[in-house]
Amino acid sequence: MAGIFVGRTAELALLQKRLDRLQTGRAGLVVTIRGRRQVGKSRLVQEFCNRAEVPYLFYTATKGASSTEAISTFLAELRDSPLPTSPDLVPISAGGWPDAFRSLASVLPDVPSVVVIDEVPWLAEQDVLFHGALQTAWDRLLSTKPVLFLLLGSDVHMIERLTAYDRPFFGRADALVLGPLNPAETARALDLSGADAIDAHLICGGLPGSGLATGQAAAGLPRRGVRRSGLGRLQHPGSGAAGRVPRAGPSTPRP
Ligand SMILES: Nc1ncnc2c1ncn2[C@@H]1O[C@H](COP(=O)(O)OP(=O)(O)O)[C@@H](O)[C@H]1O
Ligand SMILES: [Mg+2]
Repeated sequence: MAGIFVGRTAELALLQKRLDRLQTGRAGLVVTIRGRRQVGKSRLVQEFCNRAEVPYLFYTATKGASSTEAISTFLAELRDSPLPTSPDLVPISAGGWPDAFRSLASVLPDVPSVVVIDEVPWLAEQDVLFHGALQTAWDRLLSTKPVLFLLLGSDVHMIERLTAYDRPFFGRADALVLGPLNPAETARALDLSGADAIDAHLICGGLPGSGLATGQAAAGLPRRGVRRSGLGRLQHPGSGAAGRVPRAGPSTPRP
């Protein structure tokens, strides 16, 4: 299933809309994306980056890596990415995340770009100063550039803490909550209907990837191509409640 991308039309459109806003000269934007493990956060954002046609950096933290290792990897990936206007200005190492973000800010282009930090909670786990460093850098340096910052993580509490009321991101970051595919989407993805679709969804729980393949097998069907669908909920800053993102195709309420 790694090759075929299923659905997420609404989420891709939502991210594209924010990227489009950067074209009109607005300051940078932040979107946090959270959801349970394996629900498809990383894949959604990689797909978005592939389609976005702007320079991007996709950095994924490694669980258990020390702060020093994480920073070196971040800088190495920044240097090798199409993002920096002058890659030579990116240092090999930095004294801490504040320095690393300063380096990032100094090489961000003046055209729209995307910076992804995946598995944010793992960085914060290793370095209690990470959240503060990110938010200060955003406040003072990064937000002045036309950059779309995407922060991903499965740990709900840690992602929520990033946007808590006493944090610089409060009121500035949109929070996308990525849910599993719903029964209608699973059915469309697997090209099933009726009892077969319900069987497949009950087995895979709407999880993409191997989940869909399992659901397909459970429905006793050979592997087939998948169709597009999308589902998501977006919390607007300060709204406190999750609202539905309108879906592009015909919709079926979640059970
Ligand atoms: N929309 C999708 N279409 C097809 N496969 C997907 C989709 N979303 C996720 N997957 C697959 O499901 C698995 C888990 O997705 P991943 O993005 O790693 O989840 P997460 O980052 O939320 O833990 C991966 O193998 C990925 O390729
Ligand atoms: Mg992931």
